[in-house]
Amino acid sequence: MSITLYVPADAGSLSLGAGAVADRIATAARERGQSVRIVRNGSRGMYWLEPLVEVQCGPVRIGYGPVSAADVPSLFDAGFLQGGAHALRLGPVEELPWLRRQQRLTFERVGRIDPLSLDDYRAHGGYAGLARALGMSGAQIVQEVTDSGLRGRGGAAFPTGIKWKTVLEQAAEQKYITCNADEGDSGTFADRMLMEGDPFTLIEGMTIAGIAVDATQGFIYCRAEYPHAARALRAAIATAGANGYLGANVCGSGKRFDLEVRLGAGAYICGEETSMLESLEGRRGEVRVRPPLPAIVGLFGKPTIVNNVISLASVPVILAKGAAHYRDFGVGRSRGTLPIQLAGNIKRGGLVELAFGVSLRELLYDFGGGSASGRPIRTVQIGGPLGAYVPASQFDTVIDYEALSGIGALLGHGGIVVFDDTVQMARMARHAMEFCAKESCGKCTPCRIGSTRGAEVMDRIIAGKDVDANLTLLKDLCETMLQGSLCGLGGMTPFPVQSALKHFPEDFHHVRH
Ligand SMILES: Cc1cc2nc3c(=O)[nH]c(=O)nc-3n(C[C@H](O)[C@H](O)[C@H](O)COP(=O)(O)O)c2cc1C
Ligand code: SF4
Repeated sequence: MSITLYVPADAGSLSLGAGAVADRIATAARERGQSVRIVRNGSRGMYWLEPLVEVQCGPVRIGYGPVSAADVPSLFDAGFLQGGAHALRLGPVEELPWLRRQQRLTFERVGRIDPLSLDDYRAHGGYAGLARALGMSGAQIVQEVTDSGLRGRGGAAFPTGIKWKTVLEQAAEQKYITCNADEGDSGTFADRMLMEGDPFTLIEGMTIAGIAVDATQGFIYCRAEYPHAARALRAAIATAGANGYLGANVCGSGKRFDLEVRLGAGAYICGEETSMLESLEGRRGEVRVRPPLPAIVGLFGKPTIVNNVISLASVPVILAKGAAHYRDFGVGRSRGTLPIQLAGNIKRGGLVELAFGVSLRELLYDFGGGSASGRPIRTVQIGGPLGAYVPASQFDTVIDYEALSGIGALLGHGGIVVFDDTVQMARMARHAMEFCAKESCGKCTPCRIGSTRGAEVMDRIIAGKDVDANLTLLKDLCETMLQGSLCGLGGMTPFPVQSALKHFPEDFHHVRH
């Protein structure tokens, strides 16, 4: 009898050697006359255990990890195909506390299914949301998304249903659904994991969006640094099309929806929605002045939904299980779940999907296990390179859009980058300015010039030159960038700088060299 094994084809797992592990298992099985079926699944998000090999043993999957190719012979010798004892044996994967304590709605299938198998997708609840949506009017679908309380997971946290309603209300012969898969924030990988581990969910979410607002064409703007995700998406799109889930007659409904993947070219600003539209139209990624909103004048001048991967990938479960089911998770105005990404100096880095309301402390210590270096965690940066630094004294703050803005932070795309007590905050402040200078699209002065001057001011502070006068200048400059920038890149670069100044002023006076 053939035994089923799971070895991730997730890019993170591949970078840790999952490809060689899969090859070695296939070869060893052949040599030993064992019949195995190796499924290349997505990652469970426990990156410290990757490559994580799972063996189907009756109803449970027994995990072994982290497995290297050199471990494979000893795993066979230990009878791992029957779940045998071995130093790397982790037990039933779904029982691991790290996974069991999560509330996976959007990531429910990631790691569990064969990402490119439509049958597997459907067997695990896939396309139930679209089936329900096809029996509803566009306005009803939009209402369902509004009622779920879903807010954009790309960074701005704008209510998804309201955005869709604006597009629905536009009279136009052509509308578009665009998916922002540029995922440029430091310490974020949820979009990538989802696209690689369960691409049909994104395709289904975009199809529902298209049916809802009467848009017949969708584009996924995927960063070029994600070749595995782009490949998975293209393969899944082809399969969906061949099986009537995309194309001129979606599921026999008479409604059309086509989908294409377009690659970015490595600019952080192309994650900003209007730059993304410029780039999709074939131009240099430069921010457009708003208004008009993309929902009214978007791609090729037509009404356009721009949503993040996770926003769109959350729609199928909302439609399949109902708005109330999704809204029941969360706190206050932050409804549903959030895939939180733990990165940087953390012992157990990876993806944790939980209802809003979990504290930073629980994430960093109960899930993350503290710093990888074993030193005290001094600060975390939340929400990417433009996010604020949160000091350890505020680790009881919960993951909730409003609670975080209450302490001057923002959630962004849910990435948390951890730093221990060796971090030098003046250098981090300089890094923010340097990043902005490199990534600025150049359209407005406070960002284009201000960021370069900001890096220079930081150089003087770090060198100990006229520190007080330069700090005054730095604060003024931050205020100018905050007030005068056309978009969030220049407008948010002051956040890491100001938070570093506020919580760690001592780091700006005596910089260690
Ligand atoms: C500088 C900058 C970079 C951004 N990068 C991304 C990104 O990589 N991915 C993303 O989804 N949103 C990004 N955003 C937010 C988008 O402009 C937009 O708000 C989002 O795609 C809308 O989708 P949502 O409502 O589903 O979050 C960025 C914004 C700014 C200002
Ligand atoms: S803030 Fe920076 S990135 Fe944004 S429009 Fe101005 S120059 Fe471009």
